Amino acid sequence: MHTPTRTRTHDVASSPTPGTVAVALTINGVRHALTLEPWTSLLDLLRERFQLTGTKKGCDHGQCGACTVLVDGVRINACLALAVAHDGAAIMTVEGLAQGETLHPVQQAFIDHDAFQCGYCTPGQICSAVGLLAEDHAHCRDDVREQMSGNLCRCGAYVNITNAVEAVRLAQTDKEDEEDKEDKEDEGDEKDKEDQEDAP
Ligand code: FES
Ligand code: FES
Repeated sequence: MHTPTRTRTHDVASSPTPGTVAVALTINGVRHALTLEPWTSLLDLLRERFQLTGTKKGCDHGQCGACTVLVDGVRINACLALAVAHDGAAIMTVEGLAQGETLHPVQQAFIDHDAFQCGYCTPGQICSAVGLLAEDHAHCRDDVREQMSGNLCRCGAYVNITNAVEAVRLAQTDKEDEEDKEDKEDEGDEKDKEDQEDAP
């Protein structure tokens, strides 16, 4: 589904023409200075100016989550965001998640758990899941379902999407528990050492 773009963008920041605004955005780790018409949505900017078409335009009205991206690590619907309102922000799209050839754990989990069919909603689902895991508000599978409910999937792949996100959440929780255990062991070793040094 494609909704015609509402605007156009310019990439010369030094001399904004009347009616345009100079902004700087870091997109997938690269800083860009550009001038924009103030009504340019972040979604149109990403897709039309930067050809980052992984971010999808589903409803263009904040209803489906297909356009989800991360702004300073927080998931938002890019169709509802004015790009000029995020001057100075760091934007992450699905194209920026992998480290070279290594997929982000959430991307890998979507493959491992067969969490997509047509794939149209998938970039938004993945960005939303990355944001959700960073929020640290999901503590069980039901939390994951609830907190991913803003991302619709017309193919109905919800069970496998939840499986994928829950698998990453559990792996993250195990890792944190292991790190806590190691910290406590280190503290215990340090205390034993101090006790031995203080002993007469
Ligand atoms: S395209 Fe933004 S929520 Fe649907
Ligand atoms: S996989 Fe087709 S819309 Fe979600």
